[in-house]
Amino acid sequence: MCGIIGYIGSGNACNIVVSGLHRLEYRGYDSAGLALCAPENNKILSLKAEGKIAALEEEIARNLPDSLSDSYSLGIGHTRWATHGAPNLTNAHPHLSNDGQFAIVHNGIIENYSALKNKLTRKGYTFESETDSEVIVHLIAECYEDDLRRAVAAAIEQLDGTFGIAVVSSKHPDTIIAARKGSPICVGVCDNGTIIASDVSAIVNHTNKVIFLDDGDILTASATNIDITNFKSIPVTRELTHIDWDVGEIEKGGYEHFMLKEMFEQPHALANVTRGRLLIDDGNTKLSGMQMDPYEMSRIASMVLAACGTSMYAGMVGKYYFEDLASLPSDIQQAAEFRYRNPIIQRDTCMIAISQSGETADTLAAVREAQQKGATVMGICNVVGSTIAREVGRGVYLHAGPEIGVASTKAFTCQVTVLAMMAILFGRARRLSLQAGRELVGELSRLPELAEAVLAQSDNILKIAEKYAQMENFFYIGRGYMFPAAMEGALKLKEISYIHAEGYHAAELKHGPIALLEENVPIVACVPEFSGKIKTIGNMQECRARKSPVIAIATEGDKEIDEVCDDIIRIPKCNELFAPIPVVIAEQLFAYHIAKLRGCSIDQPRNLAKSVTVE
Ligand code: F6R
Repeated sequence: MCGIIGYIGSGNACNIVVSGLHRLEYRGYDSAGLALCAPENNKILSLKAEGKIAALEEEIARNLPDSLSDSYSLGIGHTRWATHGAPNLTNAHPHLSNDGQFAIVHNGIIENYSALKNKLTRKGYTFESETDSEVIVHLIAECYEDDLRRAVAAAIEQLDGTFGIAVVSSKHPDTIIAARKGSPICVGVCDNGTIIASDVSAIVNHTNKVIFLDDGDILTASATNIDITNFKSIPVTRELTHIDWDVGEIEKGGYEHFMLKEMFEQPHALANVTRGRLLIDDGNTKLSGMQMDPYEMSRIASMVLAACGTSMYAGMVGKYYFEDLASLPSDIQQAAEFRYRNPIIQRDTCMIAISQSGETADTLAAVREAQQKGATVMGICNVVGSTIAREVGRGVYLHAGPEIGVASTKAFTCQVTVLAMMAILFGRARRLSLQAGRELVGELSRLPELAEAVLAQSDNILKIAEKYAQMENFFYIGRGYMFPAAMEGALKLKEISYIHAEGYHAAELKHGPIALLEENVPIVACVPEFSGKIKTIGNMQECRARKSPVIAIATEGDKEIDEVCDDIIRIPKCNELFAPIPVVIAEQLFAYHIAKLRGCSIDQPRNLAKSVTVE
């Protein structure tokens, strides 16, 4: 989704902003632009391009000679993911005031833009774009007397909706103002200046020490200093967060795609997520971030998991864990739906919000709704300091390292692992025996080696992918713990290969979708050694009887499967509770190879955004 970057300092602002825009590319975008100011020049230079950042770089090369580029010490940039208005040049950010003296970039949605636009038009302001964002810059121009921060404060007071903005003015070439309500902004002060961004991945190559603005904050940044006030101009203090990512982690490191790199990082990520958290002798886990003692855990009466997309499928696995290991009534909620229903939340309900980015608007809204209703709310997030992590204040970080590929891979396997660790912890405070706890924790310690074994199958999976890469419809089926694995497998395939793929409960297929089966509709059956295997085999037979080719994801050495499928992807033997992890890794590889064979843009699939910060 849209990205913001801003820089002020002694470095070359144009180059720093463009390299920041590249770091934000993974979020998904359809146009890009920047605005530059120089102290001795009272004009803003604004350049924009439709499409990729390479097009913006060409535009810069055409309009800004290298000899002049160094004179710009302040810049803001933006990657736009269209919401209001087509993805074209006029709608690309930055937007400039009519006198060209103010420029803004905006993430979020201004809900009352239409009323504001009418008001401003009546006052003589002219609008160039169809965006909701453009009203902000005209409002700032309208409110300006001689203080940029005050003008921004007065303008945003009139906005309904969500925003993260960065503002510059040729009248103040030593200042960037940023403000946040519902759309993240963070800031880092480094040796040669100050850098702001909507996402830490655009900052960590400059500094690891970052301050996250809270909703309601306005930042005034100069080359050497930052001041933060609330919208009422009262100074506020925000904590410095240390981001433990290194620059190598946000680069491809020799892999062709971030997705490939991140899939292959899973053994390491699974080791990190469990490090210091598995107490094998006690048959228990240690998750200090939950800030809950066994007494409090024993008093929780029900569990609600809320998330979107891949994180929601991890949550589906989690629901089974809480039921099986902690005997807790549990439910997985589509976060987008949660606050619009009238969910029954009681004082002894615990909500776990699951979000890789920690910024997903719908998941955040579910968190706020549950907090409002008095639930205990925890988070499972990857991005340290993200909004959900900060708002819940307790939970578990994945420590999976940055996930740049739009298709979530290592976050899923780590989320499932955290959910298992949480369920064991709750279980041991309730009815899970020491012996059962020891076995489960022992199995969790094997996850890195299980992941390694599946990744070693990549070439075999490629061969199978070659057979099916031209198909246009797939079904993924599974039961029990394999049902969420089927849903996730179908999501991975459709999002990066654009093949229509549906995940179904294996038994549900015959209640309708079976009508679609024929020889060009392959089935991926998640059928490792587990309690639902025999029944799933029955469902595979039903598919084969309708001529659908069946690709099984099955346990190594399981001969029974050979007879009932056309192709087999093998995973190592493991406890059925943790089988979603190797099964989903196999599905990730399958989707990746198919997408690559079809020539798709794997890291930035069309229309998709890495972090979905609008409803
Ligand atoms: C799919 C994918 C999305 C995200 C979803 C939630 O590969 O990445 O479905 O899982 O947008 O994102 P987070 O986990 O950041 O809340």
